[in-house]
Amino acid sequence: MARRPLIAGNWKMHKNHLEGVQLTQKLAWALSREDTDAVEVAVCPPFTALRSVGTLIDGDKLPIALGAQDCHPEAQGAYTGEISASMLAKLGVQYVIVGHSERRQYAGEDDELVNRKARAVLGADMRPIVCVGEVLEERESGRTAEVVQGQVRGSLAGLSGDQVAGLVVAYEPVWAIGTGRAATADDAQETIAVIRSTVADLVGQGAADELRIQYGGSVKSSNAEELATKPDVDGALVGGASLDADEFALIVTGSARRAR
Ligand code: PGA
Repeated sequence: MARRPLIAGNWKMHKNHLEGVQLTQKLAWALSREDTDAVEVAVCPPFTALRSVGTLIDGDKLPIALGAQDCHPEAQGAYTGEISASMLAKLGVQYVIVGHSERRQYAGEDDELVNRKARAVLGADMRPIVCVGEVLEERESGRTAEVVQGQVRGSLAGLSGDQVAGLVVAYEPVWAIGTGRAATADDAQETIAVIRSTVADLVGQGAADELRIQYGGSVKSSNAEELATKPDVDGALVGGASLDADEFALIVTGSARRAR
């Protein structure tokens, strides 16, 4: 089954709304129609830039989807400083990253909370990008598969096959994020295949075959195309390299070449 890869840029805490508009404009110029037909492209700016970037995308009909980096699991309430899924949906957001390793690490998020956030995103008719991945110590002790399986089971618990088929999982080994040390394409393929079979166990083979699973962690134009040759790798979640429009567009081009 042909899954359309998703190349999503996670800007993290970079770019104010003016810079975000500039970056998105530059990116749109650098992307070719051929490439955006073959792969889906998304940008995930900080909350404060969502409205401006979304207005640009809408107004100029850019072939770029809008994503957010997090949300609160509750629909509304006395949660000072938080943002709900429905607020994001109202801004035209289509994807919401949940359970990024930086949130697991710095905000203490666990699989149960990630699961609640994923449900909130689905409940607001958006698609969660559910992040999983092992830390270096777990990899070195040979526990990658076990750790990632646990995160997938916990984060997707109780979701239906249809819900899982429509979301995105990002496999991001924590030791590869922002370090310049990406997993090899073979290692990414191996763990992503484990994730797909875990999902098949959970909700059935049909949904597992439809589910898109990205690789993330030091993706650059120099390794994107090789990653895209792997049968289970359905695109990339790109951090640092997504802040440079030309570099991000090259990642899209490399992936698109393999997806056509
Ligand atoms: P990186 O980040 O591409 O800068 O390694 C990836 C991510 O955190 O999603």
